[in-house]
Amino acid sequence: MRRRGACGTISGVTPNTVGLVGLAVMGRNLARNIARQGFAVTVYNRTQARTDAFLAGEAAGSTIRGAHTLPALVEALARPRRVILMVQAGGGVDAVLDQLLPLLAPGDVVMDGGNSHFHDTNRRGARVEAAGLHFLGTGVSGGEAGALLGPSIMPGGPAAAYQAMRPVLERIAAQADDGPCTAYCGTSSAGHYVKMAHNGIEYGDMQLIAEAYAVLQAAGLTPPELADVFSAWNEGELASFLIEITADIFRVRDDGGGGAYLVDRILDAAGQKGTGRWMSQDALELGVPIPTIDAAVWSRNISARKRERVAAAGTRPAPSLERTPDLAAHVQQALYAAKICSYAQGMALLRTASEAYAYGIDLAEMARIWKAGCIIRARLLGRIQGAFQDDPDLPNLMRDPSFAARLAEAEPAWRSVVGAAKRAGIPCPAMSASLDYYDAYHAARLPANLIQAQRDYFGAHTYQRTDRSGVFHTRWEAGASAGRAVSIPVDNG
Ligand code: 6PG
Repeated sequence: MRRRGACGTISGVTPNTVGLVGLAVMGRNLARNIARQGFAVTVYNRTQARTDAFLAGEAAGSTIRGAHTLPALVEALARPRRVILMVQAGGGVDAVLDQLLPLLAPGDVVMDGGNSHFHDTNRRGARVEAAGLHFLGTGVSGGEAGALLGPSIMPGGPAAAYQAMRPVLERIAAQADDGPCTAYCGTSSAGHYVKMAHNGIEYGDMQLIAEAYAVLQAAGLTPPELADVFSAWNEGELASFLIEITADIFRVRDDGGGGAYLVDRILDAAGQKGTGRWMSQDALELGVPIPTIDAAVWSRNISARKRERVAAAGTRPAPSLERTPDLAAHVQQALYAAKICSYAQGMALLRTASEAYAYGIDLAEMARIWKAGCIIRARLLGRIQGAFQDDPDLPNLMRDPSFAARLAEAEPAWRSVVGAAKRAGIPCPAMSASLDYYDAYHAARLPANLIQAQRDYFGAHTYQRTDRSGVFHTRWEAGASAGRAVSIPVDNG
């Protein structure tokens, strides 16, 4: 899956192909990866000592060169220059651009490989393009190991900028069964938008796994038993990086002694850097329902209010569930079905965003480049890729015939797990949000007619009828006294 090679060999490649700015762990590992793939890379870090330590340490014996100033970095690069920024998202990117842009020449390409907000990428892209240069907003997923051994890479921006970076990106990316895990995501901020969606889906996956854990734990499964359950799941259709590392986590005892497992000693307050929240925010802007991911975001928020929760819990006993022989199998079904719905939401958002922002995102390709290297890599993504290859216009993943059949098969176990969790008082917001999404999406009629009547009652917001075309208003108060009312056609012209 991943290509490894000796550090430091350059054969037949123009020296100084890539400049890399920012030597925190992601930058260091990406630089090593680039060098290992035979590209000459020169690195620069604001703090010179870090550059020197890197060259003398991890990069020793490789072809990586260091520059102590940005002008020296730029000087070292062949034209058109390719500069990768691996600096912390936010003001740091703008600060580097302030210094870097005056040093570059038309045609040069700057790639931002951080987790930048797509609005920032749009703004920076406009600024860089105005200077005659190209800007490639690029999501890089896979954590430290991915950066070193092969991440999933999501570039977006002008096609010319992508073509300039493409040979490097295709070589350093993770390799799946059908090619490198990188593809042109689309125009402007498409790359960072796709990375944001990746991260939202990552939040959803993690929350769903945590809820499966909560249910099994309430039934008395111990960490070693949980490790076995997750390992077994990792052999089947749930196979994924996150399930695999979860099994590993349950095997680790606390070094502090007492025989306890480390996971039981970790404070139950989840952190977040914000990319999951960004996805929820933009989904709200675009009117696309992504309830599983929203639930994952707010679950982290409520988990972080540990003190408040402890005070409110008082003497309330920890929830417990009956440990039935088929519980783990049922949770497996619930987890898989809820995960499909979560991915359906992520893909639906990408489709709408692609239209709204004119990105030109290819959904099958996005599933393909997530199959290896990134945090959400999973066997399921091969099936998602297939579904969008079979029907690029698929309105929702749940409508794919094979996913529809699989969801229907999982439904009884999924409902029973969510129901049992609710009865026991175990929060399972993401699993149940997925089920609500599934049910709402498949409901020919929802109670929204009543909401329309209420809106028309108090605000004359009008409504449409099921039996006549047009827009109507009713005098509801008078109708309530009289016991009947007419629908008055409203001329919207
Ligand atoms: C990845 C990850 C990574 C992300 C961390 C932390 O794809 O490699 O998504 O980019 O920054 O997972 O995210 P949170 O702190 O928001 O959980």
